[in-house]
Amino acid sequence: MSGAERKGLGRLTGRRAVITGAARGIGLAFAEAYLAEGAQVVLADIDLPRARDEAARIGAHAVHLDVTRQESIEAAMDEAVSALGGIDILVNNAALFTAAPIVEIERADYERVFAVNVAGVLFCLQAAARRMIAQGTGGKIVNMASQAGRRGEALVGVYCASKAAVISLTQSAGLDLIRHGINVNAIAPGVVDGEHWDGVDAFFAKYEGKAPGQKKREVGLAVPFGRMGTAADLTGMAVFLASAEADYVVAQTYNVDGGNWMS
Ligand SMILES: NC(=O)c1ccc[n+]([C@@H]2O[C@H](COP(=O)([O-])OP(=O)(O)OC[C@H]3O[C@@H](n4cnc5c(N)ncnc54)[C@H](O)[C@@H]3O)[C@@H](O)[C@H]2O)c1
Repeated sequence: MSGAERKGLGRLTGRRAVITGAARGIGLAFAEAYLAEGAQVVLADIDLPRARDEAARIGAHAVHLDVTRQESIEAAMDEAVSALGGIDILVNNAALFTAAPIVEIERADYERVFAVNVAGVLFCLQAAARRMIAQGTGGKIVNMASQAGRRGEALVGVYCASKAAVISLTQSAGLDLIRHGINVNAIAPGVVDGEHWDGVDAFFAKYEGKAPGQKKREVGLAVPFGRMGTAADLTGMAVFLASAEADYVVAQTYNVDGGNWMS
């Protein structure tokens, strides 16, 4: 069933959304939820073939985007504006995960992850905000943070720091852009099953000597709700923050994590 065929409440009718890193996982689930609520959606991803396939399946548009390259950000935003006629919603979702003990972190890996998770968020946010300001329509920007941004973890220093930076950028951008009617907020998921977590599991297998799949089972059992999250568990918050219901919500990061973190 395509997103457009699902039943929504029309909370995003007429809204034009760009979602980065939407060729799979959480970003793709958000795209389907936004379509169901009446939005038009662009899947913007470095993996264009997969974004194209998924866009055709769910009734969205696809554009190539490498969030680490300014010219790619500008081209993707222009392409999205041409396809949709403007941009009202940006979800900054693209990210990379990495893990290593502090004494083994390599500068190149740090730079690779920060280029996507931090600079990518800032400069996509900036490019979308400039277009929203030019339109004079306001807008909604949703950044994907993480419970990893709430506190450090022994093996996850770089990723945790990158997500703490997303929470901080959400606060600064939220405070700066609300005068233009642009709400900037973030979602901090906990542990969400999918291809991303398969990669995370492999890091823990390497550094903690766990069997494949063991870390995944352990983190799922440790969630107060009783299981790992799914992308579908996050779509309610993603729709809310992109909708007019969130007009008075400014610079916040919401935990949607089954009870893992409280703040
Ligand atoms: N899965 C989890 O457990 C979890 C938990 C907390 C937060 N998050 C966050 O939620 C977001 C989505 O997570 P996911 O699990 O769907 O991840 P994922 O790895 O499944 O998907 C990430 C997407 O980003 C794309 N991407 C990577 N580099 C890019 C680049 N340079 N330019 C454009 N696109 C690029 C990938 O092609 C992929 O489609 C991320 O920000 C992640 O950090 C995930």
